[in-house]
Amino acid sequence: MASPRSQEVMRTDSEAVAQTTVAQTVEVIRSRWSITPQAGIILGTGLGSLADHIAIAASWSFDELPHFARSTADGHRGRLLGGTLGGVPILAMDGRFHAYEGYSPQQITFPVRVMSALGVQLLIVSNASGGLNPSLNSGDIVLIDDHVNLLGAEFARFARASRTQQADCCELYSAQLLELTERIAASEQIQVRRGTYIAMLGPNYETRAEYRWLRTLGDVVGMSTVPEVLVAKEIGLPVIAFSMVTNVFRPDDIQQNRSEDVIAAASNAEPKLRQLVAHLLIELKSDRDQSSQVSDSAARVASRH
Ligand code: HPA
Repeated sequence: MASPRSQEVMRTDSEAVAQTTVAQTVEVIRSRWSITPQAGIILGTGLGSLADHIAIAASWSFDELPHFARSTADGHRGRLLGGTLGGVPILAMDGRFHAYEGYSPQQITFPVRVMSALGVQLLIVSNASGGLNPSLNSGDIVLIDDHVNLLGAEFARFARASRTQQADCCELYSAQLLELTERIAASEQIQVRRGTYIAMLGPNYETRAEYRWLRTLGDVVGMSTVPEVLVAKEIGLPVIAFSMVTNVFRPDDIQQNRSEDVIAAASNAEPKLRQLVAHLLIELKSDRDQSSQVSDSAARVASRH
């Protein structure tokens, strides 16, 4: 086993590499877009249509950005977008990276470090998930308030080599943002509920036995989000994470789960997510006494096609 001293050296080396590579990517983005984004948004499977409602000022295909991986997963377009949503400057990942694509934890979380270096103050994460809690339905939105990390050994090594190991896991998902989002959802008459997200490696969906076991651990299951959330915590970025339930496990009625159905179900539910995200951004930016104006702007964003 490596001594504490050699672990420290390894950590310092990898931090220096990370800082250089982040700076190179930031430079490319800054050469075309000088605005400071307030929030970073990661769009999960089937949720890319939210990107069509961003007033885009600059966009980069992932292959134009140094050190970015490529999107290979179904339903992920593979673009970084700089622009505004609800009038608020944002950076959005239209597609994300997953462990099942063969990417390392460093590659998966690199965009979070870049967004932070560009100035974002908040990370909004979204994903598609399978419902384990029998009271869930396809199309429901779960606000993730905790997780179970079943991503495996490589992720443990990553946590050890970065400061992620030291992330305080008691509050990975900002309690303040959860409460604010619940208030906004109530005012928009959008039903949301809190739940525990379980991250599996994939790429296959779960077996019946796995679903039964996972039900004892949490409410929804997916193949993403946890690495980005851990790095956000490490670097001090507050996180709100939305999980769109695209299929629900019913032990007495097992249905085959297909990725095209998952993508379609997520796209159907996307307008609700868009409305919540837009309203949240505006609320965070505006003074509390401007709340009626906030609702109007959010409704405009939500109804634009
Ligand atoms: N399992 C894992 N990931 C998923 C699922 C699921 O059932 N649905 C959408 N993403």
